[in-house]
This record gives sequence, C-alpha cells and structure tokens, in this order.
Amino acid sequence: MIFIWAEDQQHAIGHKGQLPWHLPADMAFFKQHTIGNTLISGSRTFASYKKPLPHRKNIVLTSRTHTDFPSGVEVLHSAEEVVEYEQEHPDETVIISGGARVFKSLLPYVDTLLRTRVLHTFEADTYMPEIDYNQFKLIESTTHQPDEKNQYGLIFERWQRR
Ligand SMILES: NC(=O)c1ccc[n+]([C@@H]2O[C@H](COP(=O)([O-])OP(=O)(O)OC[C@H]3O[C@@H](n4cnc5c(N)ncnc54)[C@H](OP(=O)(O)O)[C@@H]3O)[C@@H](O)[C@H]2O)c1
Repeated sequence: MIFIWAEDQQHAIGHKGQLPWHLPADMAFFKQHTIGNTLISGSRTFASYKKPLPHRKNIVLTSRTHTDFPSGVEVLHSAEEVVEYEQEHPDETVIISGGARVFKSLLPYVDTLLRTRVLHTFEADTYMPEIDYNQFKLIESTTHQPDEKNQYGLIFERWQRR
C-alpha cells in the first residue's frame, strides 16, 4: 500500500480538521496519484473532503458500525481489514490518505511513501507519526519553488521500503 501526505518542517499535517495550508501544486500532485485508484481515509479526513472524491473508490476507516456515508462509499473497521481488503483486491492500487491515526495503524504494512515536504512551519494540532526512514529508500525527489499560487516551496518525495 501507498501513503500520501504533506507535512511541514515540524511534521504537522492538520489544523482544526483541515490542512494548515492552501497549496494548489500539492493538490494537483495528490490528484495525479489518486485518480483511478482506491483511496482509504480515516473518518475525520473523509469529513474534511466534504464529499467523496470523484473518479476514485472512496473507503472510510471508522470504528462505527452504523454510518450514513453517501452511497458508493465503502467502510472498513480496522487496520487488519485494510490489509485483507488489499489482499482481496490485487488489481487495485490502494492509497492511504491519512490522517495521523490511520497512518500510525498502517505503518507496518506500507511499501511506498509519497511525502510532500512543505518548507514552512504552521500552527497545527495533528502531526505525522514518527517514521523510521532507514527502512525506506528515497527514489525520487522533485522541488517546486514558491510561485504566485503556492506561497511555500515544496519537495515531492517517493520512498520505497528496502
Ligand atoms: N497533510 C496531509 O497530507 C493530511 C492528510 C490527511 C489528513 N490531514 C489532516 O489531519 C487531520 C485528521 O487526522 P486525524 O488523525 O485527526 O483523523 P483521521 O485519522 O483522519 O480519522 C480518525 C478517525 O478514523 C477512524 N480510524 C482511524 N484509524 C482507525 C483504525 N485503525 N481502525 C478503525 N478506525 C480508525 C476513527 O473513526 P471513528 O471515530 O469514526 O471510529 C478515528 O476517530 C485533519 O486536520 C486533516 O485535514 C492532513
């Protein structure tokens, strides 16, 4: 499975249920990697989308047994169920879009990390769990300079489990 997220220089990922920043270049990167694939998100992250993301299979991770997600949204209840889902759907690319709790529970199973580094420090209340990058190899790194639409520099990284 693949993790995709953006973090600031202190590993912050969220603030008050939303992203701490507005960076269209990172949104485009997210779209490019998730369109056509299966996206699994925690219930808080899914709520931040406001609606299922189009052209992707939307799966929500929640402990709740009674849910009222829009039709078409699938539900899983544990990290183990996510692992089983991936094994049972080998034709699908499974991408985990967070948040912190979801990343933490699936860290043992992830093969690929798509990390965007935002070159700034923001006010935040949600942080990426600690990742041992010695277990991964950096295979791609692309820098995006600040521009009129993106106030901060970005580094798009791809890491593969060794
Ligand atoms: N920068 C980024 O790339 C990025 C990415 C994602 C999210 N975010 C931000 O991060 C914040 C949300 O993250 P968060 O950590 O607070 O919440 P989250 O992980 O999105 O959602 C937490 C909820 O997901 C469910 N859940 C998580 N792990 C589970 C597991 N292993 N088994 C069963 N259910 C599980 C539970 O739902 P129930 O309570 O319904 O049981 C839990 O309360 C927001 O601010 C969001 O904008 C940022």
